Amino acid sequence: MKSDLIVGIQWGDEGKGKIVDLLAQDYDVVCRYQGGHNAGHTIVVDDKKLALHLIPSGVLNQNAINIIGNGVVISPKDLIEEMKPFGDLSDRLFISDKAHMILRHHILIDQAREKLRGKKAIGTTGRGIGPAYGNKIERVGHRIGELKDTEKLAKSLIEYFDINHVLFEALGIETANYDDLKKELDAYAKVLVPMIADTTSMVWNALDENKKVLLEGAQGTLLDIDHGTYPFVTSSSTVSAGACIGLGLNPKDIGNVTGIVKAYCTRVGNGPFPTEDFTQDGKDLGEKGKEFGVTTGRARRCGWFDAVACRYASRLNGCDELAFMKLDVLDGFPKIKVCVAYEIDGKRVETLPQSLENVTPIYEEYDGWDRVQGITKYEDLPENAKKYVKRIEELTQTKIGLISTGPDRKETIFV
Ligand code: GDP
Ligand code: IMO
Ligand code: MG
Repeated sequence: MKSDLIVGIQWGDEGKGKIVDLLAQDYDVVCRYQGGHNAGHTIVVDDKKLALHLIPSGVLNQNAINIIGNGVVISPKDLIEEMKPFGDLSDRLFISDKAHMILRHHILIDQAREKLRGKKAIGTTGRGIGPAYGNKIERVGHRIGELKDTEKLAKSLIEYFDINHVLFEALGIETANYDDLKKELDAYAKVLVPMIADTTSMVWNALDENKKVLLEGAQGTLLDIDHGTYPFVTSSSTVSAGACIGLGLNPKDIGNVTGIVKAYCTRVGNGPFPTEDFTQDGKDLGEKGKEFGVTTGRARRCGWFDAVACRYASRLNGCDELAFMKLDVLDGFPKIKVCVAYEIDGKRVETLPQSLENVTPIYEEYDGWDRVQGITKYEDLPENAKKYVKRIEELTQTKIGLISTGPDRKETIFV
């Protein structure tokens, strides 16, 4: 059996949570493979809304096993908090022993550095993501599996604080003493150690036993550490290939890849965004789409669909199909714009350039429609909405397999 994969195509918040929850009803195992609690994935079922940050969006399927893979960075404090409403998850949530931890000092470093950057800030979620992944790459991080021996872990952390005391002093960060740290780590260990597992073997065994495995990406392709709009990106490999590293799979283990993409575009945080709309249209998209961050509550920047970036992201991720989200947010717009190419130094460019700074979008404009909100059958869509979907398929060279017409599980068209 091969595992199926869900990946964000834009700058995150495309609606991954909705799709993973919807599909997860048919899967045995759901896995997160990168990112941390910077993610905010929303699920809506019968008017009840749930926001998930670290727990995979398969959690509402009582029969599914959920896995947090080695590629994720985990804040034990925030994971424990997030688990509370679900009661006992110890027999259906498993954490890789190799996943790195986000501890209090990572969060404080992230926030202090952002403040120092001033106007050049990345606009991070302030969740300690960059410092935690930084420590992992520097080979000085601490992994969840180390919670099995909190004495050794606390000693090692104190040693790390001592070696780096100049950094902590410069940033005005007070580090914990041994006793407080040990107490804190013991509290984490008590809850999390029973859930620590060799998740790579778990996923391999599931695939060998012909179980259905779904892989849930966080963030989006344009926030990828290598392929996104660096340095305005997150610190992990958000593309589909990241799932191999973040779980211990090989490329042949990946089956169907679905790219999740909004019918327009948003971005939260700083960095280039060619199709950002500063007119009333941008404001209307934000208001109708309720574009406020799930994790930080920040207003998301809004603009039109960028077909150049989507075609690139589709190829990069190997998308078999796209899930076209939030089409209902375009209801009532008289004209809808799509970026089909960029103008760079007076030339028309149809491929994604190395940098998205200083590019001018070239738009096509289409007539809008009244209402698609809540529609569940393709044939019931207004003609102009169908034309829009077809044009997006042409421009992105990718089939649209699913159209979302509202936040609820039910408000979905399987094409
Ligand atoms: P994720 O990070 O990719 O999981 O996406 P978020 O949950 O951060 O943001 C997507 C938002 O759009 C959430 O509030 C969803 O409930 C909502 N949403 C998802 N699909 C649709 C849709 O088709 N229409 C509308 N109006 N809202 C949707
Ligand atoms: P989901 O999974 C949207 C953005 C931040 C910032 C940049 C770096 O819900 O789609 P970080 O805290 O990761 O160091 O911030 O990445 N960002 C997201 N934007 N959706 C997300 O996750 C994001 N996770 C991080 O706003 O611009
Ligand atoms: Mg989100």
